[in-house]
Amino acid sequence: MGQETSALLLREITVNGYERVVEVKEEEVGLHAIIALHDTRLGPALGGVRAYPYRNFDEALTDVLRLSKGMTYKAAVARTGTGGGKSVILTKAGTPKTEEVLLAFAEAVNQFNGHYICAEDVGMGVDDLAVVRQGTHYVVGLPHPKSSGDPSYFTAWGGYKGIQAVCQSLWGSPSVKGKTIAIQGLGAVGMKLAATLFWEGAHLVVADVDSARCAQAAKSFAAKVVSPKEILSTPCDILAPCALGGILNPMTIPQLCCKAVAGVANNQLLKEEDGRALMKRQILYAPDYVVNSGGLMNVCVELETKGYNPARPRDQIDHVYDCLLAIFETAKTTGKSTHQVADEIAEDNLTRGIGKRTQEVMFHH
Ligand code: NAI
Repeated sequence: MGQETSALLLREITVNGYERVVEVKEEEVGLHAIIALHDTRLGPALGGVRAYPYRNFDEALTDVLRLSKGMTYKAAVARTGTGGGKSVILTKAGTPKTEEVLLAFAEAVNQFNGHYICAEDVGMGVDDLAVVRQGTHYVVGLPHPKSSGDPSYFTAWGGYKGIQAVCQSLWGSPSVKGKTIAIQGLGAVGMKLAATLFWEGAHLVVADVDSARCAQAAKSFAAKVVSPKEILSTPCDILAPCALGGILNPMTIPQLCCKAVAGVANNQLLKEEDGRALMKRQILYAPDYVVNSGGLMNVCVELETKGYNPARPRDQIDHVYDCLLAIFETAKTTGKSTHQVADEIAEDNLTRGIGKRTQEVMFHH
């Protein structure tokens, strides 16, 4: 049954294991979106809004379900006092999002009364988010003096901490000096990670589909450039995926020529069993949603009563290092994959309310 809210049409979709999934339409302005709340036991669901030209509704639904569940696990391990949610706007290829579409989306966010807080994601820049903010308070990561702004510095710092944890676990020291690290993708996060690794003494091998980015890394960080096809099989100590999801799969895992994988790309394993395949090859895998949680930690600080202060997420990101070492140790003693151990920590925190929000969220923008 649909429910009318001004010109918005909301259709509740029942999905096992999800608290609330709603299809939203505003036909006059051309909005078609889905907002999914996976789990709010630890706090309001927080997750980006992705605008993407999905081929059909089912593809968009699958994506929003997968992504919102991923946010639950990421937040539970990072103890940000937030739950898992995500939204997608179904766009048409080549057609820009209009202000009306973004404002109608903001009205849809309001229907969740603060149980869903949106942020930037693929296809949604900070300027789009600023338009959404005109229609709703429930937004973080805005280009506003009291908001947290670009999360990529914090995500990259967490990526560095993840790589340090791998070094500690495999070689007994967190130093990256002299290690060869292959970075796939030199975007907002990958390039910043490359800079930190360079200054800390690592040798870099890089690939990006954008050759200008490769040229920049070669010039600034003495990086060796290889083609996007070669990067996964390039000999290195640590492979750092910083571009695409699903890159660890039955096709690529046999080709890997590294001792560990630690990068910031979301959903690196195509399937659960790929985590076990890495284990069989004795490649240490740092679970992606632990490594890349720095960006989430950053936006969550702007919800605190005291307001945003970049020193807070910077310090919280040290948790990535400790958390990964604990995961590696448990995996070693139990014979489970690191991915499974991370999931179990998330599930345990959710069940026992560990990291549950104690303060009301506050919006300062
Ligand atoms: P971005 O879009 O700025 O950078 C991605 C880079 O990957 C681009 O330079 C692109 O040309 C390159 N690329 C695309 N396909 C490639 C291929 N086949 N081979 C090599 N390079 C390729 O994205 P951003 O923000 O740097 O994020 C990177 C990854 O980290 C994404 O998976 C994202 O979901 C994830 N992530 C990002 C966060 C953030 O704070 N920006 C937070 C958490 C996760």
